[in-house]
Amino acid sequence: MASQLHKTLLCATSLLLLLLLPRALLVKASLGSQGRALLHWKATLRSPQSLRSWNLNSSPCNWTGVTCNYPVAGRGRSVVTEISLPRMGLAGPLDALDFSALGSLLRLNLSYNQLGGAIPPTISALSRLVSLDFTSNQFRSKIPVGIGSMKELRFLSLSQNQMVGAIPPSLSNLTVLVSLHLEDNKLVGVIPKELGRLHELMYLDIGVNRLSGSIPSNLGNLTKLYHLDLYQNQLIGVIPRELKNLVNLVYLSIADNNLTG
Ligand SMILES: *[C@@H]1O[C@H](CO)[C@@H](O)[C@H](O)[C@H]1NC(C)=O
Ligand SMILES: *[C@@H]1O[C@H](CO)[C@@H](O)[C@H](O)[C@H]1NC(C)=O
Ligand SMILES: *[C@@H]1O[C@H](CO)[C@@H](O)[C@H](O)[C@H]1NC(C)=O
Ligand SMILES: *[C@@H]1O[C@H](CO)[C@@H](O)[C@H](O)[C@H]1NC(C)=O
Repeated sequence: MASQLHKTLLCATSLLLLLLLPRALLVKASLGSQGRALLHWKATLRSPQSLRSWNLNSSPCNWTGVTCNYPVAGRGRSVVTEISLPRMGLAGPLDALDFSALGSLLRLNLSYNQLGGAIPPTISALSRLVSLDFTSNQFRSKIPVGIGSMKELRFLSLSQNQMVGAIPPSLSNLTVLVSLHLEDNKLVGVIPKELGRLHELMYLDIGVNRLSGSIPSNLGNLTKLYHLDLYQNQLIGVIPRELKNLVNLVYLSIADNNLTG
């Protein structure tokens, strides 16, 4: 009983201390929380040798592959804006990365590593992200529906992974998307006709998957498209006449399907 009371008192005291912390300290702790999130993830990787500079002795802004923006005239706080770790020999999962601590991130490039497991749905907390490059890893999950809420995304690549399930129609909410790379995965289901709403799209590659059904005529609305690759799927039916509206197209690959007409 006495120990229970002791615990409660201790808890109340820590809460009080937290409330009394000076604001400056809390601001500093904020870059701290970004660093902590990254270190916590590093600890789950099987091969973090290339991240030797990621340690408590320096600011995360000094770590390999991490870029911060520094506040103008020393006001405000610096935040992590870019994590770029392509070809770093990273192996392990991504689940342990607390994306909610990295809401200022604009660019994330983890391409050409051996990261695997699921792409966590919490990744949609990166609401300011402009570019997400996970090319050539071993991710094996559905494409998180929540990616559709990352409204600033201009570049998205999940190509050369083991992604399963269907292409979520929510991707059509990425209205400023310019480049979409989903090729070389294990995606099934139909090509969502909603993709026809991606009016800024210039590059679309969903080749080498297991997509079925017919080519939606709505793709003819993607008038800025210059590269369209549907190569090696299980698409059937005729090539929609609306594709003639793709006046900027310089590359079209639809071979190795079951198209007719
Ligand atoms: C970053 O590294 C440089 C040189 O390695 C050092 O002078 C500087 O103090 C470091 N900055 C932080 C914030 O750790
Ligand atoms: C990610 O890094 C690779 C390797 O350096 C590079 O080729 C690629 O363009 C980068 N992705 C983005 C979106 O900048
Ligand atoms: C797109 O976003 C809106 C709200 O922003 C939401 O209501 C809608 O369900 C989303 N569309 C899809 C296909 O997910
Ligand atoms: C897109 O294309 C479809 C079929 O080709 C058409 O019915 C629809 O009106 C178009 N939508 C927009 C927003 O242009």
